[in-house]
Amino acid sequence: MAFVNQLSKRALSTSVLRAAKIQEFVVIGGGLMGAGIAQVGAQTGHKVTLVDLNKEVLEKANKRIADSVSRVAKKQFKDDADAAEKFKASVMDNISTDTTANKALETADLVVEAVVENMGLKQKLFKEYDGIAPAKTIFASNTSSLPIAEIASATTRLDRFGGLHFFNPVPVMKLLEVIRIPETSDETFNAMLAWGKAMKKVTVDCKDTPGFIVNRLLVPYLMEAVRMVERGDASAKDVDTAMKLGAGHPMGPFELADYVGLDTNKFIMDGWSSRYPDETLFRASEMLNKLVADGKLGKKTGEGFYKY
Ligand code: CAA
Ligand code: NAD
Repeated sequence: MAFVNQLSKRALSTSVLRAAKIQEFVVIGGGLMGAGIAQVGAQTGHKVTLVDLNKEVLEKANKRIADSVSRVAKKQFKDDADAAEKFKASVMDNISTDTTANKALETADLVVEAVVENMGLKQKLFKEYDGIAPAKTIFASNTSSLPIAEIASATTRLDRFGGLHFFNPVPVMKLLEVIRIPETSDETFNAMLAWGKAMKKVTVDCKDTPGFIVNRLLVPYLMEAVRMVERGDASAKDVDTAMKLGAGHPMGPFELADYVGLDTNKFIMDGWSSRYPDETLFRASEMLNKLVADGKLGKKTGEGFYKY
């Protein structure tokens, strides 16, 4: 394509080859995203440790991973039940779980953080890990909306810090946004790009701007759909039908908001509306706030805009 500068492309591919290889990584947070990232890592031959608060949450995460791996295996090995079983066992073998990251951090090449969308918590965890992990370990956040530079500021390894933003459901969605802050070294950035490819994702890179590429466009769209229903312009069901049949989207905005998690949508909107008060697209919504206050967080809790 005309946009691509062949010289810089060649220079980049050489430096990707030289970047440190990520073979072993830790995922912090075994919710929707963390479990998916761990699964894809294990499916692509990485040794993964998944960390969450307690055994019960980790058991749930393991069950979600096992169910998802079964779906992948069923597709990949349609006519070979033995091969499907072997695949499942080998994937699950690559994943360990723990309630603390300490042990895994002794040797990890990369930490991918996927805990709830809260700046204070993300900074607290990275500050702690910075004191434990060896110098080689790259730190990355899967945040949907928080500035990577602000999360990284809790650590002393700004050159080995970046954003690795996956999409839900991680085993299906092919994209990985790779974010660098001004201090991210070329070696770190190239290692993250190479890892993205090893995870069989298509990578795009973006500066550390609100929502990166996808969420900067997607979240205001989801929120405008909510506001449309709040104004009484149309029903949620009709908005969903319209966007699926009129725009070819696989899910309507209300189905998608429920799928992402309404708490995550609210964390994103609250963060943006307080950080960028002059940006009219980044406004919170009463309807969303009420659903979250009532514990209706979408598909993961059995009810959101819809009942499941
Ligand atoms: N694990 C493994 N495979 C899965 C899966 C999972 N969790 N979910 C779906 N699949 C695969 C399966 O192979 C499935 O086939 P089987 O039913 O035979 O197992 C196939 O996909 C089709 O799935 P479904 O029939 O269940 O449903 P579908 O065709 O409607 O597809 C979907 C489901 C992929 C989620 C599709 O509806 C879709 O693409 N939705 C939009 C998702 C989207 O936009 N995600 C981005 C959200 S924004 C974000 O993530 C960023 C952020 O920061 C908030
Ligand atoms: P989730 O609520 O499903 O999972 C969060 C997990 O973090 C929970 O299992 C929770 O127990 C765990 N956790 C909380 N505190 C912890 C701690 N101190 N140590 C270890 N684990 C802890 O959330 P999610 O949807 O997986 O989102 C996680 C991150 O990924 C957020 O930053 C979110 O913005 C981002 N993200 C979400 C989506 C999405 O569609 N849901 C997509 C891309 C990125």
